[in-house]
Amino acid sequence: MFPLRRNRRLRTNEVIRSLVRENTITPNDFLVPLFIVEGKDVKEEIASMPNYFRFSLDLLEKEVKTLWSLGLKSVLLFVKVPDNLKDNAGKEALNPNGLMQRAIKTVKNVCPEMLVMTDVALDPYSSYGHDGIVKNGKIINDETTAFLAEMSVSHAQAGANFVAPSDMMDGRILTIREALEDEGFTDTGIMSYSAKYASAFYGPFRDALDSAPVDLVNIPKDKKTYQMDFANRHEALRETEMDIDEGADIVMVKPGMAYLDIVRDLKNEFDVPVAVYQVSGEYAMIKAAAEKGWLNHDQVMLESTLAFKRAGADIIASYFAKDIIKLIS
Ligand code: PBG
Repeated sequence: MFPLRRNRRLRTNEVIRSLVRENTITPNDFLVPLFIVEGKDVKEEIASMPNYFRFSLDLLEKEVKTLWSLGLKSVLLFVKVPDNLKDNAGKEALNPNGLMQRAIKTVKNVCPEMLVMTDVALDPYSSYGHDGIVKNGKIINDETTAFLAEMSVSHAQAGANFVAPSDMMDGRILTIREALEDEGFTDTGIMSYSAKYASAFYGPFRDALDSAPVDLVNIPKDKKTYQMDFANRHEALRETEMDIDEGADIVMVKPGMAYLDIVRDLKNEFDVPVAVYQVSGEYAMIKAAAEKGWLNHDQVMLESTLAFKRAGADIIASYFAKDIIKLIS
């Protein structure tokens, strides 16, 4: 007997396909990373991230208004710190008038409703390019988390809605949560990079902020002593469970495309929102292949982004956010 079910019926044309589509993308899904530099009237393209820019604060204002008009209502701020302000302890990060603190105020000033999240880690401020304080050939954990807590309070004082610790030190979520509570910032949230892998896909980002680890005696020029081994899956659950217990409001998997299994694991296992970060190297790969005419830029961008939704992500941090929204609206 001929099969009663013909699955192709539901694929006959775009109308029926859209009727039965399981996942969609909307502007509400996105968190837009923004790179900020000192200066005036600066809009520098990042060499390894075509059509992505570092903005000075004046041009940041314009960019934020554009994002809001597209329905993109959440940003994640990163700063490129001048070399002369970097040191081992990252103390410029606590400057109440530092670039990050001014950037937060700038965004809130032009667009008070924009949700502002800030990167919390030492690397852009570290003369060594590490996410923690370096001492005796090691990245020191507990001194670093104490510092990250102060940094988080400083961002909250400047008006950040959420802090996003991306450093992978142990115990930092609890330390940060307690510091925020002690200072009265009970409504400031924490989005933890809970499952962040030691990945070669971060290369272009480190160009963007000039924040790559430098050569040091006795310290490897990578972040493998704190970021996770990309061979591991159960470890992501362990890391994330601890961060939730310590007070993380949102958890995150990073990078994205090579880690969709981890996104699904977290979504199945936990009941807090799960974010995914489609990182700089993923963006660069698609741009480069499209430039060569080897892949269709828009189709690949959409397909790879929708895959995050299918995998279970509630929030997508992506350099493609603007392009995608323009494409689908
Ligand atoms: C720094 C940080 C990194 C990224 C976000 N925060 C780089 C790193 O850990 O070395 C990567 C983002 C990207 O590649 O797009 N703590």
